[in-house]
Amino acid sequence: MTHLFTPLKIKDITLKNRIVMPSMCMYSAADNGMPNDFHVVHYATRAIGQMGLIMVEATGIEPDGRITNADLGIWDDEHVKGFKWITKQIHANGAVAGIQLAHAGRKSKAAVTKKAPSAIAFGDYDMPHALTVDEISDIIEKYKQAARRALEANFDIIEIHAAHGYLIHEFISPLSNERSDQYGGSTINRARLLHQVLEAVRSEWPLDKPLSLRISAEDYVKEGIHPQEWADIIKGIPHGYVDIVHVSSGGLVPVKIDDYPGYQLMFAKKIKKETNLVVIAGGLIEDQVMANGVLEALEADLIFFGRLSLRDPYFPLRFASRMRYDLEWPEPYIRGKKVSY
Ligand SMILES: Cc1cc2nc3c(=O)[nH]c(=O)nc-3n(C[C@H](O)[C@H](O)[C@H](O)COP(=O)(O)O)c2cc1C
Repeated sequence: MTHLFTPLKIKDITLKNRIVMPSMCMYSAADNGMPNDFHVVHYATRAIGQMGLIMVEATGIEPDGRITNADLGIWDDEHVKGFKWITKQIHANGAVAGIQLAHAGRKSKAAVTKKAPSAIAFGDYDMPHALTVDEISDIIEKYKQAARRALEANFDIIEIHAAHGYLIHEFISPLSNERSDQYGGSTINRARLLHQVLEAVRSEWPLDKPLSLRISAEDYVKEGIHPQEWADIIKGIPHGYVDIVHVSSGGLVPVKIDDYPGYQLMFAKKIKKETNLVVIAGGLIEDQVMANGVLEALEADLIFFGRLSLRDPYFPLRFASRMRYDLEWPEPYIRGKKVSY
């Protein structure tokens, strides 16, 4: 029976377990977007804590694509060195390293003029500028260059951020996209930017390397996007471009979400059933019992633990102990291993 410590092979990588640290912005970079000592310590600690996949936080493909001006960036070749340092430490501690490539669109607090599919503001944010077709092409090229740098920095997985109301999600959702050209209207048109970004990224990111797509499967507004439409979009992506779907929800419009342990699992289950790709599920999961239940039922393949990994970077050691699973601890910490933890 599959459980949290069952390995998983995806294309050219093998995850030693099913525990994922999802991307979480740390708002700790300088304005130049460079990774610093904090980032190295932060990610290496989670790898020492035995998380199988560490997904580095949303990283701007251009300065205007950052959520804030304290986000990481990958718009310059100068960024590669810092990311190499992070991947080296993640790998040295036995984990797989992913990076989330992001453009915050109309939700960027770093951009003087926010960019979006249409001139529709998010809540009380400033009105964004509706991108021209040439400006869209420029952004696609920046994704391509970011993918080249991610490969150079020795990442194992690229994740395209198409969730939480940022640029790609803004094109996908009819709530924020009222364009009348080839990027608006039908599902195919709203998904065109995503397709073109994937095409560009895949021209640099080899097909034998996994690519993950982070989605908000549900907008929580009737006229917005729902899991079935997302599943249809994913099924229309060329085979082998996307290997993993990392299922989240919300963020497109400021609505209150009723969250409780496992509140996003039903979306992940639906995406898994429809696409049969590797699915990362989660949402306020705090214990190994719920996580193992999802894996046993084959409703998802991997589980993400966000806020829990901020609170306790060593929680996988605790979960193993509770499961009576004889996990190999990192050598320098073995004297701290107790029967129950
Ligand atoms: C501090 C913080 C920063 C986050 N930044 C990102 C991000 O960069 N990219 C992303 O896709 N999700 C981001 N998220 C969402 C998490 O990846 C995750 O989906 C969310 O916390 C729900 O999971 P949890 O209930 O296990 O914490 C962030 C969440 C937190 C708490």
